[in-house]
Amino acid sequence: HRFADAEVVAGTGGETHQVAGGDRPVLTTQQGVPVADDQNSLKVGARGPTLLEDFHLREKIFHFDHERIPERVVHARGYGAHGYFETYEPLTDLTKADLFRRKGEKTPAFVRFSTVAGNKGSADVARDVRGFAVKLYTKEGNWDLVGNNIPVFFIQDAIKFPDLIHAAKPEPDRGFPQAQTAHDNFWDFISLSPESMHMVMWIMSDRTIPRSFRFMEGFGVHTFRLVNAEGKSTYVKFHWKPKQGLQSVVWNEAVKLNGADPDFHRRDLWDAIGAGDYPEWELGIQTFDDAFADKFDFDILDATKIIPEEVIPVRKVGRLVLDRVVDNFFAETEQVAFCTQNVVPGIDFTNDPLLQGRNFSYLDTQLKRLGSPNFTHIPINAPKCPFHHFQQDGHMAMHNPKGRVNYEPNSWSDAPGPRESPDQGYRSLPVPEQGQKLRVRSETFADHYSQARQFYISQTEVEQAHIADALTFELSKAETPAIRARMVSHLLNIDNDLATKVAQGLGLREMPDPATAARPTRQDLNP
Ligand code: HEM
Repeated sequence: HRFADAEVVAGTGGETHQVAGGDRPVLTTQQGVPVADDQNSLKVGARGPTLLEDFHLREKIFHFDHERIPERVVHARGYGAHGYFETYEPLTDLTKADLFRRKGEKTPAFVRFSTVAGNKGSADVARDVRGFAVKLYTKEGNWDLVGNNIPVFFIQDAIKFPDLIHAAKPEPDRGFPQAQTAHDNFWDFISLSPESMHMVMWIMSDRTIPRSFRFMEGFGVHTFRLVNAEGKSTYVKFHWKPKQGLQSVVWNEAVKLNGADPDFHRRDLWDAIGAGDYPEWELGIQTFDDAFADKFDFDILDATKIIPEEVIPVRKVGRLVLDRVVDNFFAETEQVAFCTQNVVPGIDFTNDPLLQGRNFSYLDTQLKRLGSPNFTHIPINAPKCPFHHFQQDGHMAMHNPKGRVNYEPNSWSDAPGPRESPDQGYRSLPVPEQGQKLRVRSETFADHYSQARQFYISQTEVEQAHIADALTFELSKAETPAIRARMVSHLLNIDNDLATKVAQGLGLREMPDPATAARPTRQDLNP
């Protein structure tokens, strides 16, 4: 940093005035009016009342008063960086998405990592899921892959999201605790939601205390679709694999780090990129067709399930490199707006009821958070390809349609404005759908324990011990004994040894019966 050496003049009260000159521009108001004195408000006499007429004072304080915008309702604390995605080889057999058409194609990217439950000022190394949101500025529009560092989710249907987040965030009467410690409400909700059990195994594992953002995996979680130029659809799960490897801290370190340096993860990313040690992830895809989906043990629309990598290997199709920190945290990291419904031709949705709800939620919340339907006018959110539409007006409109035409169809041949493209335009896959309107959960979503068990037994002994310790510690924060016992009753359906360790750690007087929610597997339903 260069030290400011502008000419200094002492004011009448001994205050410091730095005066413009040389390469120092003149300070102005927002209206561009040059400012003579930025140290003193306009008064009647040196010791008199301040005048309402002082437009400089009023503008300055008015602007300051409105500096804050609402923090994100979830994932409030995060840190972003710029980079690019490089395609390894054309994927035209699978998708017509432009970014996957050419080997070596580089697509600009912005990534924001986050914690979920803590507020904007919370500590980085909290035990929490990490958001892994990627915006890819492709030549056919922005594609957002809004993922997490855990491949599954707590709930199967978006209608439960407000309940999940209410239960995880501070309790409304007392306003604490922050997310990093468990508490009655959280474990109450979770223990009443057997569908959460697979995710519980992951969040009680070391995955939720990553060493830094650079050592995390990322997952798109839902099953999406790739669609090629012939209209053929292939199901896909997206993965980000860190080239740095996967590393976590232990709980003891996490607690100390949060006290000593609550900014540990954001500092790590800033420092690594600043030092030229650019973190990289490879994009992996698991692809499969209807035949596989029909015979797979679980429903591919159920976001609480993975497709094991032994069953369908992950194919690496490109790499993401983060090589530039932000110039302005607020303008970029805070104002960036990711949305699952931002897809490009060649990428499509499935009927995963969690994804369908997310597609509504992000746009809706961002209107409130950023205050205007024109948040795509903010450079971090604007596409980097040409864009032409007839949206106009609203708060802070920067790109109103030019000239006479702001509608179509229209008859003006001199300046008709943009028109549809049947060839290049986005077309939703014409999936046939039929059924009764029902407010119901599919029976194919009902096995909540098998994959939780698979995850637990896939862990090393040390990792299993960490899961048991974390469950014991976090459940010890649930003050109501019945809630602890209810959680142990679920653990009994996952792994007997784990349930016993946790029950002993919690000092349960007697072992509860296994939870009755052990429902039939898909194979039982379709023998
Ligand atoms: C924010 C991931 C489920 C609503 C985020 C962010 C990520 C994320 C990474 C942070 C985006 C950023 O950095 O700006 C996920 C994943 C989910 C999930 C992976 C499940 C698989 C849901 C559901 C809903 C939801 C079910 C609602 C129905 C929101 C909202 C925000 C958010 C409202 C704040 C967005 C903003 O203010 O910009 N989510 N989420 N999420 N998520 Fe989710």
